[in-house]
Amino acid sequence: MSRIAYVNGRYTPLAQARVHIEDRGYQFADGVYEVVEVFQGALIDEQRHLDRLARSLRELRIAAPLGDGALRIVLREIIARNKLRDGFVYLQVTRGVARRDHFFPDPPPRPSLVVTARLNDPAKIEAKAAHGIGVTSMPDLRWKRPDIKTINLIANVLAKQAAKEQGSSEAWLIGDDGMITEGGSSNAWIITPDGTLVTHPVNNGILSGVTRATLMTLIGSLGLRVEERRFSLAEAHAAREAFVTSATSLVTPVVSIDGSPVGDGKPGPVASRLRERFHVIAPRTR
Ligand SMILES: Cc1ncc(COP(=O)(O)O)c(C=O)c1O
Repeated sequence: MSRIAYVNGRYTPLAQARVHIEDRGYQFADGVYEVVEVFQGALIDEQRHLDRLARSLRELRIAAPLGDGALRIVLREIIARNKLRDGFVYLQVTRGVARRDHFFPDPPPRPSLVVTARLNDPAKIEAKAAHGIGVTSMPDLRWKRPDIKTINLIANVLAKQAAKEQGSSEAWLIGDDGMITEGGSSNAWIITPDGTLVTHPVNNGILSGVTRATLMTLIGSLGLRVEERRFSLAEAHAAREAFVTSATSLVTPVVSIDGSPVGDGKPGPVASRLRERFHVIAPRTR
């Protein structure tokens, strides 16, 4: 089946989908994106993703390409046209097409909107989570506003590639203060020896993960103790469990950090339970 993309008002076969070479996304990474999970044909946490998209656009002073209602229709149309049951929709907005110049184009061009779908194999993803993943620490070389979900991901790309070359699936980024901020494409969590879940507070230093936010409600309902504070690599090494969260990985146990096992080197019971429960509580919309 050929995949269908939405590009600036048109649904088109992916192979023929095009944007202009003077799109500011292409030239300056002047744009933002979202990745929304589709599970059993439903969007997971759609509202939080749309809210974060609106915030990212506001921070960059890019106009919304469509109202939320129209955007919801495009997401559903992309799911239907791609017969997507399990996978993700990817949504990208850039400032639009203009002659290359750093200043914002005046008058502002129409923002470019692209939406694509990706199918995944739930069995393969579950198998990876059942194994757990390794992470490798890397300096956090990103700009100082990673709270904005911009398409400028080069520092994340380089950190994740270096982690991969060391046999890991994810990079854990270390800020200038020596504390872990987050993963290259996920939020980072540890569980201390006394059973407290710890993750970096929401501020300009991390992306405020949608999965992280939904997990907080699950953690509350299970009566688990959680602290939003920074933690060091040394504390992570001493943790009982560790895991990452993102729309694409949900809750995935971390079984090693820089080659040293976390706890007994197997996926921990708390992380595994949070993963099992996640889809039970996460908001679904069709
Ligand atoms: C740097 C970074 N942090 C955290 C996350 C997790 O965010 P979410 O749970 O909204 O997918 C992502 C997801 O892409 C990310 O790229």
